[in-house]
Amino acid sequence: MGRTEGRVAIVTGGAGGIGSAIGKLLCGEGASVLLVDSDKAALAEVETTLRAEQKDIKLSTLVADVGEEASAKHIADQARADFGPVDTLVNCAGMRSYEALAEARTKTWDKIFAVNLLSYAWLTQEVIGDLRASGRGSVVNISSTHAVNPRAGMGQYDVTKAGIVSMTKTLAFEEAKHGIRVNSVCPGLTFTPFHRRRAEEAGRSQADIDLEAQGGCLMGRWADPMEVAYPVLWLASDEASYVTASVLMVDGGRFVL
Ligand SMILES: NC(=O)c1ccc[n+]([C@@H]2O[C@H](COP(=O)([O-])OP(=O)(O)OC[C@H]3O[C@@H](n4cnc5c(N)ncnc54)[C@H](O)[C@@H]3O)[C@@H](O)[C@H]2O)c1
Repeated sequence: MGRTEGRVAIVTGGAGGIGSAIGKLLCGEGASVLLVDSDKAALAEVETTLRAEQKDIKLSTLVADVGEEASAKHIADQARADFGPVDTLVNCAGMRSYEALAEARTKTWDKIFAVNLLSYAWLTQEVIGDLRASGRGSVVNISSTHAVNPRAGMGQYDVTKAGIVSMTKTLAFEEAKHGIRVNSVCPGLTFTPFHRRRAEEAGRSQADIDLEAQGGCLMGRWADPMEVAYPVLWLASDEASYVTASVLMVDGGRFVL
């Protein structure tokens, strides 16, 4: 038996570095997984890779903008149509913005709140009936180490990530009586295709990239996305049956610096 055998999961941001790693593990451990992302090409590529790596997985994909409220119903309906009632939700989609708070525009605030925070709330609401009925519903919300140690230059993003931690705890309070566990995972420096592209655009070498991580956390290196995905798998599975409202730092010890 796989660790998530028989579960029906939705993973948003499923074409990204961390989301695709989570999708890979959940599928590999027996779950039926709907990966959702707004990047059609990247999502198709992830699907092809996962199907090539693991035979007979139960996987489907959906291109959707989670920052649109109406998408939540569409996503939930698709998951149910493909696999049945949902008992596992991993909210992982995220966007970044680099405006200093003194210059932050309302347009950017609206967008980043919708994608990074409200999408988590909307999709949770859409599947809450399924999660309650299952008796072992699990929600894992991907936040960030910067939810608890904000920095200069990404204030809007960090505010949304702090909001995710708060929302996770409140939802855990409210839904414990229905057997739903709600947890957040706070990744630190995790090297994904996004970071590779960004470094290339800025003309930064691998040595520059490595140096950034050396002083950035106790471990002195970047995480591989799988190192974030394994804790998510654990929280999603029955192995974490007594864990709720937790804020799991998966950041190589960055938050203590
Ligand atoms: N990589 C890191 O260092 C790091 C650190 C802390 C937290 N995180 C968080 O982890 C999560 C995954 O990030 P990642 O590093 O894999 O980044 P990523 O950019 O590779 O993945 C994010 C995914 O979300 C998708 N997405 C963005 N806006 C969307 C929208 N409106 N609708 C649907 N999909 C949308 C993107 O297309 C992308 O595939 C994010 O929530 C991010 O904030 C990442």
